[in-house]
Formats: sequence, structure tokens, C-alpha cells
Amino acid sequence: MYRVHTNHVLRAADATDMSHVADESVDLVITSPPYPMIEMWDELFTARDPAIADALADGDGDAAFERMHAQLDDVWDEVARVLAPGGIVCVNVGDAVRSFDDGFRQFPNHARVIEAFDDRGLRSLPDILWRKPTNRLTKFMGSGMLPPSAYVTLEHEYVLVFRKGEARDFPPSDPERYASAFFWEERNEWFSDLWSFTGTDQTMEATATDDRERSAAFPLELPLRLVRMYSTYGDTVLDPFAGTGTTTLAAMHAGRDSVGYELDADLVEGFDERTTDLPTRSRRRTRQRLERHRSFVADRDPDYEAVHYDVPVVTQQERQIRLYAVTDVARATVGADEDGDVAAERAVPDGQGVEGSHGDERPHGEAYDETRTDCRSVRYRLSHTPLDELDESDADHG
Ligand SMILES: C[S@@+](CC[C@H](N)C(=O)[O-])C[C@H]1O[C@@H](n2cnc3c(N)ncnc32)[C@H](O)[C@@H]1O
Repeated sequence: MYRVHTNHVLRAADATDMSHVADESVDLVITSPPYPMIEMWDELFTARDPAIADALADGDGDAAFERMHAQLDDVWDEVARVLAPGGIVCVNVGDAVRSFDDGFRQFPNHARVIEAFDDRGLRSLPDILWRKPTNRLTKFMGSGMLPPSAYVTLEHEYVLVFRKGEARDFPPSDPERYASAFFWEERNEWFSDLWSFTGTDQTMEATATDDRERSAAFPLELPLRLVRMYSTYGDTVLDPFAGTGTTTLAAMHAGRDSVGYELDADLVEGFDERTTDLPTRSRRRTRQRLERHRSFVADRDPDYEAVHYDVPVVTQQERQIRLYAVTDVARATVGADEDGDVAAERAVPDGQGVEGSHGDERPHGEAYDETRTDCRSVRYRLSHTPLDELDESDADHG
């Protein structure tokens, strides 16, 4: 049976030094940093720069805001270095509201992050508002029912989108790019500038609610859409603020290689749980994607036929779509333990991407230097099988 492989690395390390990742080797970055001026992250920012505690205590919100962003800037420097020309960065961030002695105000994190990428020469592309409704009765702030001093509730976050230079060049009819196409109706939903994730995808495979709140994880649907929108098979996706590893999981589902950095070693170790039953979930998810498309076209009469599936498609560009499901997950390596000792390492075969040639000359699987094991890391090698081949050989589907 035809299989392809992807490699995934999560490092318990500080993303201000991503020297394991080669210059211009990453095609897509999807991340959500700790949000400056949101109290749950004060401790993390302050531990790295004690002057932030003084600024907060003195009620100097502007100084604290700027110092917190200066920490993110060090990571954005590394992101700009490792991103390949034409590569895309998606940053999920929300603004903060906070009161000091001089009153209540908003701290515009999204605007400051746009400035940071602008300063690093990336261009800002149209962004997405992710609507996160809150039902808390206490959500309204300010002076009750009396104008003019009540405050609008922040029920949205941003997914900011940046690109390094011009759009990527691909050879005409590049097989990986065409196999990575999305369906017409997916394009219409995903490329809207307002996302709310109604329906089942919000909860499917999310971490438990408590964990999600504690770790500020985003739902799997968010990075999964972005991976499919902005990368092709054979690409490498990076998350420098990996948290519970949702971007890694999305890259696994979508058949792209991935690299993640996370300061909290327990979160890195805890990622393993999220790979439990991954082949079953991936198969289900992949079939559901095709079934959703089948119901979409059922009462329409599109002009084209998909090459690999017995289903019509709306445009010529969708004909070569190929859907893969994860069929095997091997945890390949554990690097240095907490004492800094390097544990025995099992050999990981060279990175091997999905069929066909890559859009640029860079060989697959070369973003990450596998020879260095100077901190704890977990590494996975996955096999993926095209859904069409899987269904032919698999009686238990349906
Ligand atoms: C908003 S959370 C990311 C949540 C993630 N998207 C998920 O789905 O679980 C931000 C994460 O960045 C990590 N972090 C903060 N500064 C870091 C740094 N310099 N290097 C690596 N990780 C960092 C924090 O420990 C935290 O887990």
C-alpha cells in the first residue's frame, strides 16, 4: 500500500533561540503567544524581566505593555529568520483590557504585533476575526444601563496573517500543490474574515476544557484550517509557542512536517496523550471531510469529476485533491532529560515527504537539525495513507 511519512518535533526550549531550525526552512508559522497585559501571563513575563513587575506596581501600563512585547519581539526575530521566502505567519492574539490607578483602558496587542512584523520586513495580509462568544453574566463592564460609560465586551481575537516577500512560485501543475487543494465550499468558509467555529469542530479532539483554559489552547480547527489554507503537502509548519501542541496535532492530521517550541516541559511531555487513537480519529475526520463535500454537491450539478474520488467538484483546480489519513504513529526519540543527560536516541530515517516534487529546491524534512539533543524533545514519525487506498483495503469503514 502506498504510504507517505511526516516528522514532528516538540522541544522543551525557549523560542528566542531556535538555532536547531535552519534559516529560511519553514513554510508556515501558526502560533498564539502569551498575551501581554492579560493577567494570567504576568508571572511568565515578569520572571523574564523583573522591571515589568515594577511597571505594573507603579501603574505604568504603557511601560509594562512595551516590555512584554519586547520579549515577543525576540521570538519574532527568530520567526523572521527561519521563515522561507514566500512563507506565511499566522498569529492568533487578543487585545487586553485592564485598569490602573488612572482608570480602565485597552492595550492593543494586535496592533503592536502588526508593527513588529512590519519592522521585520514582512507584509501584513488581510486578517481574520475569530469570534469567541462569552456567556458570562459578568461580561459587561462599566456603568450598567447608563450612557455613556459602559464598555463594549471583547468577544473576538485576531488571526493576523503576514508573508515574507512575494507569494511562492510553484512549477505549473505542481502535484503536491494540486493534491493539497481545498474544496470550493471550504474556500468560501475558510477565507471569510470572520470565524466562529459553530458546529462540531470546536469540540472535536480539543483538550479537556480545564486544560484548555489553563493553557489557553486554541481549538484544533483553528490551526487545521490555517495549515490547509497556507501550506502544501511536503511543507514544514512551526509553532514557537506550542503550549499543548495543537499546531503539531493539526500538522499531523494535515500531513505536513512540524516543529514546536514550548518553555513548559510538562506540556511537551503531555502531548503524547493527544496522539492516542490518532489513526482512528484521523480516518474519521478525513472521511467526514469527503462526506461533507459529497453532501454539498448532492443537490448541485458541478461540471468536474475528482480524479481520486467518485464525487464531482466545482472547479478544475479541485480535481487532483488527495486526502490522507494517519495510519501509524511512532514516537521516535526522547532527547535530554531534566538533568541534561542525553537519553539513548533511536535512529530516525531521513525526512521523506509526500509524493511529487516540492515547490522549491529544498529537500523535505531538512528544517530541523536532528543531530542536536541538548534539551528535552519529543519526536514522532507518522505514516499517512491516501483515503482512496485505505477504503479499498478496509472493510470496516462507513
Ligand atoms: C497562549 S499559549 C499557546 C497555546 C497553544 N496554542 C495551544 O493550543 O496549546 C502560549 C505558550 O507559550 C509558551 N511560551 C512563552 N514564552 C515562550 C518562549 N520564549 N519560548 C517557548 N515557549 C514560550 C507558554 O509557556 C505557553 O504555553
